[in-house]
Amino acid sequence: MTDNMARLRIAPSMLSCDFGRVGEEIREIEKAGADWLHVDVMDGHFVPNITVGPPVVRAMRKNSSLFFDVHLMIDNPLKHVASFAEAGADLINFHIEVEDEPGDVIAEIRRLGKKVGVAVKPKTSVDSVKEILDRVDMVLVMSVEPGFGGQRFMPEVLPKLTELRKLMGPEADIQIDGGIDENRIVEAANAGANIFVAGTAVFGNENRTAAIAALREGALRGAGLNSREC
Ligand code: DX5
Ligand code: ZN
Repeated sequence: MTDNMARLRIAPSMLSCDFGRVGEEIREIEKAGADWLHVDVMDGHFVPNITVGPPVVRAMRKNSSLFFDVHLMIDNPLKHVASFAEAGADLINFHIEVEDEPGDVIAEIRRLGKKVGVAVKPKTSVDSVKEILDRVDMVLVMSVEPGFGGQRFMPEVLPKLTELRKLMGPEADIQIDGGIDENRIVEAANAGANIFVAGTAVFGNENRTAAIAALREGALRGAGLNSREC
């Protein structure tokens, strides 16, 4: 364990929770050892699915002191970041594919006092975010096509994690999102990710504590056991 390595974090995705008991679900994963809470926001334009907006994030916020990692899968993020910041987001991810002026979105999220993440779809290259890497707090690499939980992990994105880790250094936050389970997490950690989103792998298991512990153990193994703090 060294001080200058990015910390490993498990971020359950609320997309797979039971929204009828969302408050209880959040309290349960917090007790079960989740590090972050990942909220998937979809608009029916950028992705084919529609999920939650600021009022639901606000309701979630009332039930948790976890770090809220909000993943905006929406067109025109600039128009909406303030509402999500006000609702309780701690970090806001926007997709590079929808933004010709990423600098404006980054500046606005910073103005709101929140952390900034930039997300890339599976077929979007690292080159597309290279110019802004020094201005963001995290890069989110998608390992499924955005839109739905429970899809198959795409191993072809793994080299992007390694490329990003080389470019960003050992302390940077690099997130992997989509199809992560206790086996895939080993490969993702080994390739360079340190923040792991998991929807089905957490909420599909009645024992949330065991699910998160299994993921953490896989992440540690992949990261080379003691080389990163967990
Ligand atoms: C997909 C979302 C992911 C998804 C992860 O568009 O961004 O966060 O919910 O769910 P699993 O872990 O089931 O692939
Ligand atoms: Zn997500």
